[in-house]
Amino acid sequence: MWSPLELAAGVSLGEQGLVEQTAALQLAQPKDQAQNQSAIHSDDSSAQQKQFNSGVDHSQFGSRYLTEEDDVFQHNAWDHVETDDAFKRFAEEQYEMQRQSPVSEFDKNRLNTNPARMWDLFYKNNTANFFKNRKWLQQEFPVLGDITRDDAGPKIVLEIGAGAGNTAFPILAHSKNPQLKVHACDYSKKAVEVMRSQDEYNEAFMQADVWDVTSDELPPGLQEGSVDVAILIFIFSALAPNQWKKAASNVHRLLKPGGQVCFRDYGRGDLAQVRFKKGRYMAENFYVRGDGTRVYFFEKDELECIWTGKFEDEADEPYPGFEIDFLGVDRRLLVNRARKLKMYRCWMQGRFRKREEPSQ
Ligand SMILES: C[S@@+](CC[C@H](N)C(=O)[O-])C[C@H]1O[C@@H](n2cnc3c(N)ncnc32)[C@H](O)[C@@H]1O
Repeated sequence: MWSPLELAAGVSLGEQGLVEQTAALQLAQPKDQAQNQSAIHSDDSSAQQKQFNSGVDHSQFGSRYLTEEDDVFQHNAWDHVETDDAFKRFAEEQYEMQRQSPVSEFDKNRLNTNPARMWDLFYKNNTANFFKNRKWLQQEFPVLGDITRDDAGPKIVLEIGAGAGNTAFPILAHSKNPQLKVHACDYSKKAVEVMRSQDEYNEAFMQADVWDVTSDELPPGLQEGSVDVAILIFIFSALAPNQWKKAASNVHRLLKPGGQVCFRDYGRGDLAQVRFKKGRYMAENFYVRGDGTRVYFFEKDELECIWTGKFEDEADEPYPGFEIDFLGVDRRLLVNRARKLKMYRCWMQGRFRKREEPSQ
């Protein structure tokens, strides 16, 4: 599902062409500024000292700071970059245009009624080349290093919205723990078929099942309070906002006290959001892609509320919520150097923990 470059960037196949289509965006910095910078930095040793790879290597993210002296087009990616004013203005204009041309009520109902069908089609149409080498997983989520050690003992991982197994398989490939079991669930039957058909699929260590995180049932073979680590990578964005509470409370039910959630998803202002054209807007920050799959772009505050259990609408049962160990905004500027294009990406990343039960 992800090519190496896309993987690090978290860009799905549905966004392929983003770079190409960005051409019309004219995000390049003002000409005089760009000329100044490249004049100063055409052989800039400070930039060279940074010894960046030309590719996007996640292990180096967090260290590529763009300063005023840097030539933005010197490297392919920069970290922690705030969007510039031109992009902010462009984004606001785009949001207004999107709101003016929403998805029809008829289509909204259709798309919200059986969203798993769209994902089935997605996995049917993208059968080959699912990329399975997420080297950054252990680095971003240290608990995954802990539970895969040879002496970690019996551990259960539940990956939710596992897709083709792009996270589950690398975890198992890296694991030295003979007592690790990964449950990889997705509500798309086709995704589960893809996982089960892989050579690496070994039932001694992995169980792939169809399960909807918003349902009342628990996944096959799992009981309440049985899971050590729940992984949710680019799945929450596929839910409708009125499903968040049910999904988070199911994760809470399944985790052991002290169990952890590893979370990564789209952030508001990501270029993938800004670029949506007319007829894709379902609700604020919520869109439908060309292939019929839905995508939401999160604010940090919103995720804080979801995961701590503080929902505004408390009409239905609240759920106890999680402790937030970490919640951050991952902003990156990806650069197409040949075409002098700047692409602002924005993802949210979090680690949450189910509270230990108070001792009696
Ligand atoms: C953007 S893909 C991400 C797949 C995978 N986590 C990855 O990072 O490659 C979103 C996945 O979430 C699944 N999904 C969406 N809503 C779901 C739900 N309610 N329950 C279970 N899976 C769901 C979709 O079928 C799809 O496979």
